[in-house]
Amino acid sequence: MSASTSSDGVVERVQNFVAENKRAVLLGAALTVAAIGGVAYYASTSRRSDDGDPEKGDRKKKKASKSSKKTKSGKDEDGPLLEEAKPKTADEEPLTEEQIAAMSTEERKNAAASLKGLGNTAYQKHDFSRAVDLYTRAIAVSPAPEPVFYSNRAACYMNMKPPVYESVVRDCDSALELDNRYIKSLLRRATALEQLERYEDALRDFTTATILEQFRNDNASQSVERVLKKLATQKGQEILATREPRLPSHTFVSAYFGAFRTRALPTLPENPTTGDQNLLSAVQALAACDYAHSFSLINEALDQGLSNKTLEAEAYNLRGTFKFLFGDVPGAKADLQASLDLVPSLTQSLVKLASVHMEQGDPQQAFECFEEAIKQNSEDPDIYYHRGQGKHFSTSILFIMNEFDQAAENYTKSTELDDQFVFSHIQLAVAQYKSGHVANSMATFRRTLKQFPERSEPFNYYGELLLDSQRYADALEKFDKAIEIEKQKTPPPPINVLPLVNKGLALYQQSGKPELAQQHCEEALELDAECEAAVATLAQLHLQQQQLVKATEMFKRQADLARSEPELVNALTYQFATGAQIEFVKNYPDMMPQLGQIARGMMMQ
Ligand SMILES: *[C@@H]1O[C@H](CO)[C@@H](O)[C@H](O)[C@H]1NC(C)=O
Ligand SMILES: *[C@@H]1O[C@H](CO)[C@@H](O)[C@H](O)[C@H]1NC(C)=O
Ligand SMILES: *[C@@H]1O[C@H](CO)[C@@H](O)[C@H](O)[C@H]1NC(C)=O
Repeated sequence: MSASTSSDGVVERVQNFVAENKRAVLLGAALTVAAIGGVAYYASTSRRSDDGDPEKGDRKKKKASKSSKKTKSGKDEDGPLLEEAKPKTADEEPLTEEQIAAMSTEERKNAAASLKGLGNTAYQKHDFSRAVDLYTRAIAVSPAPEPVFYSNRAACYMNMKPPVYESVVRDCDSALELDNRYIKSLLRRATALEQLERYEDALRDFTTATILEQFRNDNASQSVERVLKKLATQKGQEILATREPRLPSHTFVSAYFGAFRTRALPTLPENPTTGDQNLLSAVQALAACDYAHSFSLINEALDQGLSNKTLEAEAYNLRGTFKFLFGDVPGAKADLQASLDLVPSLTQSLVKLASVHMEQGDPQQAFECFEEAIKQNSEDPDIYYHRGQGKHFSTSILFIMNEFDQAAENYTKSTELDDQFVFSHIQLAVAQYKSGHVANSMATFRRTLKQFPERSEPFNYYGELLLDSQRYADALEKFDKAIEIEKQKTPPPPINVLPLVNKGLALYQQSGKPELAQQHCEEALELDAECEAAVATLAQLHLQQQQLVKATEMFKRQADLARSEPELVNALTYQFATGAQIEFVKNYPDMMPQLGQIARGMMMQ
């Protein structure tokens, strides 16, 4: 799985590199400058001060802020403490339409204000139905619609037992139609929408509030992250439940098969059955990288039946591998197990079973498979190569060094048993690098380049390490060499375009010009439309430059290519986060200049 691992590595590096922290990622890299720098880019935008929210009144009271009571002068029209100045209209009977029509504008204003005051009092006494009634009457009598009446009534619906979320949403809609920067209403509606599981709408509101609040409202930003997670998880599960099973990208499949040493062609009996012949054809199609054909042939072979256990075990091994690639994990496990039941010494099936467990995040089971494989055939180099990959499951920093050392031991053992497998050498060098043995790692790479001059992978990975050490010129030279080797391949099945993506990133890191990275990723996609690393990199680059629409397109494409649930959820998270920002720009077009300014500020850093 080395090449796919490398592709993940690229994606991960891009994300880390483009965005410094998680919030940056979720809220758009450029926007985060405002958060980190605390720069008041939005200071000029009109924001209402205290809106007399009953909740706010409540909080103030709890804090027993007597002084604030005093400083609050009577001219604070909205203040929840207004009712201290005894309301004139304390009538319990709602005014009729005729009565209202007979009142002057001034009288109506005063009546509405005192009803609101009474509403606030009722709210503070937790008499929410009465408060709703009073705010409703305030709305009816008010000469002009006031957002605060709706917002306060929404607060009542929110606090009722049980809360009436639909009404919260409706009242906040009204409040926001009157004032689209009314943060409390935005947050309240968002909370209600979240409860109603309308996550996309909730996300839009939380995102808007976060940006309008200049990223200073932690509660709002945390809500963005929480709702994004719910939304992406929910949509991810929906997509997985309905999407047609299919093979991942050519690059991924060839990388997966490439991570196992090629098996000898099966020997057929003198009078082979049709099933036997189809097995042979399936293995030949696999060698020719014709994966879809290989899969249908292996299915036929198993349906038609094979001459003996050896051949049948081979067939199950191959079909199980395909099932795994299709995302059918239980099917894959069953086939690999069937293969082992027929021929327990088929260690490749054990190693593949282990790799399924590893992908599933179950290293314990994986290591049991490796142990069993070693019992069966301690000389199978595949075992050590794949056991080395167990390091990916490290979660604790403390163990990482140690695990990379162990991984390096395993790769060394694998190369000792068979030194013709290029990935063992590469992974050995990578493990040495990660465990801090940089000189050893570089030496391993130089040896590997000599031994496999016709392979692009060692150049590409060596380039990655050089790039990591910020040796740009050396890295670029290696990527160029790798690209040259790939482009010479004839006839070309989709070539490995990772070196191109890496070259773009190296140029970008060297020059600070994102368009250089963009250009190379686009070229990569022309050569292999399914290259996840190129798609993910482009998405991040667009995001960073606030090209939100292009970014969403790429995130959608990334979601389409995603094979596993975590990959899918990751892509969807970005897709929805970007979508919410697009909505923001659409709904608040006057904020666009500021957003652009922030983006440019980011580019100059
Ligand atoms: C933060 O938001 C949640 C949900 O939106 C809300 O229940 C909570 O009261 C808020 N906390 C603060 C300190 O505003
Ligand atoms: C199955 O048949 C092949 C081809 O004749 C042979 O090489 C292999 O040893 C046989 N396996 C068993 C278990 O008989
Ligand atoms: C390989 O890895 C395993 C498990 O991580 C470890 O126990 C073992 O010591 C390593 N080295 C060799 C040579 O197998």
